Amino acid sequence: MPNNKLKIGVLGCGTVANIGHLPIYHKSSLTEIEAVSDPLESHLKQAQKLYNVPKAYKKPEDLLDDPNIEAVSICSPHWAHAEQVIRAARNGKHILCEKPIGLNLVEVNKMIKAVEKNNVIFQTATQKRFDLGFQFIKEKIFKKEIGDIIQASIYWYHSMPDLGLNPRNDLIQEVGLWRLTDEKCGGGDLIDHGPHYFDLLRWWFGEIKSVSAQIRRVHKTRAYEDHSTVLLSFKKSDITAIFERSEAYFGSVYGEELGRIHGTKGTYFFDVPHEYSLKPMTLKKHFRRNKTSKISEVETTFPKDRWNLSYAREIRSFINNILGRSNEDVGFPQEWIPTIYDGKAGLEIVLASYESQRTQSTIQLPLKEYRPLVWH
Ligand SMILES: NC(=O)c1ccc[n+]([C@@H]2O[C@H](COP(=O)([O-])OP(=O)(O)OC[C@H]3O[C@@H](n4cnc5c(N)ncnc54)[C@H](O)[C@@H]3O)[C@@H](O)[C@H]2O)c1
Repeated sequence: MPNNKLKIGVLGCGTVANIGHLPIYHKSSLTEIEAVSDPLESHLKQAQKLYNVPKAYKKPEDLLDDPNIEAVSICSPHWAHAEQVIRAARNGKHILCEKPIGLNLVEVNKMIKAVEKNNVIFQTATQKRFDLGFQFIKEKIFKKEIGDIIQASIYWYHSMPDLGLNPRNDLIQEVGLWRLTDEKCGGGDLIDHGPHYFDLLRWWFGEIKSVSAQIRRVHKTRAYEDHSTVLLSFKKSDITAIFERSEAYFGSVYGEELGRIHGTKGTYFFDVPHEYSLKPMTLKKHFRRNKTSKISEVETTFPKDRWNLSYAREIRSFINNILGRSNEDVGFPQEWIPTIYDGKAGLEIVLASYESQRTQSTIQLPLKEYRPLVWH
């Protein structure tokens, strides 16, 4: 029987689709998953069965050309995003696209043209903005709770074994070998994970002025970098930020994700448990109650039930935006929903980091020249 639920198509039925997209559309009373697509038969069939999906396409073009589908989630590997976004936009479908939204600025500019010309909604899937803890930081920074910001340091590590030593490690199976070995990715760990925090840092502190990076490929079995240190300066303030990422670190298997934000009146310390777990992020604020008192600590934890997961809030915002509804039920202002321009800005910082390593210099934004790093 026909109904008026929004008809969704999901491209790529791997990790992120099964954690952050399919189960949320499946549970929503506003959407119906009309079709899934994946060239890998086992993933395709599994998704179709788990979420009771009527259509399963092996070829992504068939889903993108299906006239019944009104909106798509693009969860395929990085290199497939641009072509799929352009085809979806030309067919009038709204788009939620995983990060990195593309591999370079030439293809991203083509994506922007297609999205603008066809007047479709495009949301970049940088879901950390929707994490209650990160939204709390945004609101507190806005209210100057820790005064003027001086500096932020982010440390985010995953402990990935060397492929040469243990190629069948469970974690590598879970995250996909292509991430570490496929040259089509256009980069390694930084293009994969950098867009998340570059997005948050811009959202919190404003546009980036310059980028200086030291990037390494520690394990030669990988196609691209696995350890990066990036130093950012901002256009409208003298804030600096350090972003350190590694897949070459020795530690707990799902790694560590820590941040420090230093202000003139206090410091925030945040600790984010493994992204897909339901454990809440903790945020500690250190400050002095008056000029002579000792340092006080206030700790906040955030609810992280299924509804409050960043992915659920991200997708609910996407649906609300398409349906022209206010985003009040999510509690996230519509103007903060990450756009295609935010997706482009996050990618630009990644590419500027590569250019900084290649030229061993500080790169001013907007990025004028970019040549990929070669690791042979
Ligand atoms: N936002 C996040 O937190 C987050 C987390 C993980 C991954 N991602 C992003 O999502 C994308 C997918 O990552 P993943 O971890 O789910 O990878 P994955 O390997 O687990 O899944 C990717 C799926 O896409 C399929 N696929 C391959 N080529 C395709 C194509 N041309 N069209 C459609 N499907 C295709 C694969 O068979 C696989 O099933 C990547 O761009 C990644 O950066 C984002």
